Amino acid sequence: MATEKTFYLETFGCQMNAHDSEKVIGTLRQQGYRQVESEEDAGLILYNTCSIRDKAEQKVFHRLNDSKRLHKEGKRFGVLGCVAQQEGEKIFERAPYVSLVSGSASYRKLPEMLTRLEAGETRITGLGDRQTNETFETEFTARQSLYRGYITIVEGCDKFCSYCVVPYTRGKERSRSSRSVLNEAWRIADLGYTEIQLLGQNVNSYRDPEGKCSFAELLAAVGEVPGIRRVRFTTSHPKDFTRDIVEAIDRVPTLCNHVHLPVQSGSARVLERMGREYTPEWYLERIGWVKAARRQISLSTDIIVGFPGETENDFIQTIDLLVEVQFDCVFAFKYSARPNTPALKMIDTVSEDEKAKRLQVLLERQRNIQKGNYSKRIGEIIEVMVEGLNSTRGQIVGRSSQNIPVNFRCAQPIAPAPGSYLRVRVTVAYPNSLVGEVV
Ligand code: 5AD
Ligand code: SF4
Repeated sequence: MATEKTFYLETFGCQMNAHDSEKVIGTLRQQGYRQVESEEDAGLILYNTCSIRDKAEQKVFHRLNDSKRLHKEGKRFGVLGCVAQQEGEKIFERAPYVSLVSGSASYRKLPEMLTRLEAGETRITGLGDRQTNETFETEFTARQSLYRGYITIVEGCDKFCSYCVVPYTRGKERSRSSRSVLNEAWRIADLGYTEIQLLGQNVNSYRDPEGKCSFAELLAAVGEVPGIRRVRFTTSHPKDFTRDIVEAIDRVPTLCNHVHLPVQSGSARVLERMGREYTPEWYLERIGWVKAARRQISLSTDIIVGFPGETENDFIQTIDLLVEVQFDCVFAFKYSARPNTPALKMIDTVSEDEKAKRLQVLLERQRNIQKGNYSKRIGEIIEVMVEGLNSTRGQIVGRSSQNIPVNFRCAQPIAPAPGSYLRVRVTVAYPNSLVGEVV
């Protein structure tokens, strides 16, 4: 009897990676593999990796180092995703027990790579497909949630911001046809999914290869699929953010009233050096469109502090922008020099201490902004989608359409199931979440 083929998969990084893993799991199952929950139980151990910042990359190598003892038991290792694409065959030198290294642009070839692995090959690579025009679509995607479905609409990125690895790790930008996106939306709505998240490194640079619709039209069409109650999209680039996206959110109630629009810096000089192709004024004009909408659309952003050459004055301009926009959520990061990127050649003038200090100052300012924003919501009744239970606090955890975490106690003996929708009156506001009671 042939021994059973089993695999363990651990995912690092962004939602794109989480969703790629769902596709990889589906592909492996199709090839006769069974997923197991621990490395000890697996014949094949896979890490789907992230290299956006040095810390994320180091985590992967630590993880590999921790598990290498399992190689002696005959287990095979594979490194997938962004670190795989970035480091390529160097991974075999650093971790000789790894047999498979593949970037996301090559996942279409996974079945073939698995066959070679099973035949005993030890240095299998999928690295040469960064220039592909093809996307990785599969009808076997093994979605990990029963109510929130990710759908990739754009893969790769052509923006080449000077700090960013993504164009090198995920390859050339390519869009999937709106026909195939809508088919998938209908299919998962039929399965009972009520929330769809459209994914891409830059979703709003979407170009339908069949020329049927714009990004805003696709967004609206997904929102009109029967059964769908919430549609989100991530992530957007200000350069490609058009007014019709705001109009679509105003017109189609299922489109969540939340826009995540990474600004990175409030200084024109730094934005220029980052290769972002817009000025703070351009960015604020788009924010103006969002704020002028009929629906109250919440805003969130990403910021990098300590980019090479960022002066105290540049940093103050970033703070000023945060104060002006009054975001509901900010993801802020210390600049991390990345391989292959143009910024690597710029002199990193800001010390690690100074970066840490700027990050602290920024987070503290943003905390106060959020405290103010969130406390204005006390008394409002908000529709919340239940995500789970926080057993330590005995609270149900959920999220509003605006993407704000809302927690509440539930009087009923049986807690509402994840994926259900409830109306909650907000009673308390914290800087990062709201607390309420079911009405
Ligand atoms: N250093 C720090 N932060 C980075 N990001 C992307 N590249 C880097 C880097 N080299 C941040 C950006 C991006 C988010 C996903 O990660 O803010 O929007
Ligand atoms: Fe990390 Fe970027 Fe790759 Fe996502 S695309 S896994 S954030 S490096």
